Amino acid sequence: MPRLTHEEILLWLRETEPTALEQLFARADAVRHAFVGDAVHLRGLIEISSYCVRQCHYCGLRMARSIPRYRMAREEILACARTAVRLGFGTVVLQAGEDYGIEAAWLADVLRAIKEETPLAITLSLGERMPHELRLWREAGADRYLLRFETSDPALYAAIHPRRGAAVSDRIALLGELRSMGYEIGGGVMVGIPGQTYEMLAHDIELFEQLDLDMIGIGPFLAHPDTPLGVPGVPTAGAEQVPSSEWMTLKAVALARLACPEANLPSTTALATINSVDGREHGLQSGANVFMPILTPAPYRQMYQIYPGRTCNEEDAIRCNACLRGRIGRLGRTVGEGPGGRSARRGEADPLPCDAGHAADAAAVKR
Ligand code: 5AD
Repeated sequence: MPRLTHEEILLWLRETEPTALEQLFARADAVRHAFVGDAVHLRGLIEISSYCVRQCHYCGLRMARSIPRYRMAREEILACARTAVRLGFGTVVLQAGEDYGIEAAWLADVLRAIKEETPLAITLSLGERMPHELRLWREAGADRYLLRFETSDPALYAAIHPRRGAAVSDRIALLGELRSMGYEIGGGVMVGIPGQTYEMLAHDIELFEQLDLDMIGIGPFLAHPDTPLGVPGVPTAGAEQVPSSEWMTLKAVALARLACPEANLPSTTALATINSVDGREHGLQSGANVFMPILTPAPYRQMYQIYPGRTCNEEDAIRCNACLRGRIGRLGRTVGEGPGGRSARRGEADPLPCDAGHAADAAAVKR
């Protein structure tokens, strides 16, 4: 039995009454508290390359754009990892476009160096790489892999992800392979992709639960003017079009928490971009328990514009960390210590029951 039915999810996604929605957010917040506690885990994001072979219709790094590109050197990556340790983070996330200039053996060596020198958990977010490469990285010490499937609707997925030659793109199958290699796996979607309907988004949330994701990233779609989905007049789903608003994103985050109580759920950079004042806080109060501060060196950040306005104004990692810790403290939350993976939480004290239904679900959760 799924925790939420399709109809329930749809009703919530269509709900616009603020008082009703506050109840949804409060319920998600209570489930978050009961299952993953009050700690907010910080994952230092290192954007190691802006090269990409893909042509995704929404992304500012798509290959067709002739923009300055960079690929970080081993020592630069290690320096960022050391910064993560100094700032008290338990995890680094190495993210890039799908860049085959990142050679598998080279990266494996970097991963081993991070593991030898630091206690950090390592998450990779490097696109749809070959199984033998993913296996090599796992053996070299990578713990988790993020691969958002963006939408569970095959037609919408195909429309915005041009194929690369004859290669078939099946991210859901790849997530299954990653899990069988021993990675913790993360998926996720953008909210408000032109052409995305409420039905599709409801199905995305059901799929999070079916895949039993360890991590779920959800952010609003933000139009990039130099991409096919960012130009005026892009076809939408009309009355059924999901808006790419902060509220719609928060609804999806809250429903993801109810569907996947144990998952690690970031309050995403895109959410902080759509509402730079308190979008991060709203995410953390609607079910999220993770934040991913950017550690990429300043000169490279300007070149990693997946969507406009992405870089936080605070480029100094120490000041950014102080600001974040202040924000987390003001919410009455603590900063997580250690790697903060889902599997590491297993075996810890039983979660506090927040309501009978979810307490029963907690007992039933198996992997
Ligand atoms: N708006 C919002 N999110 C985007 N991403 C890529 N382009 C955009 C955009 N224009 C997200 C995708 C990807 C993640 C790294 O960034 O979901 O998986």
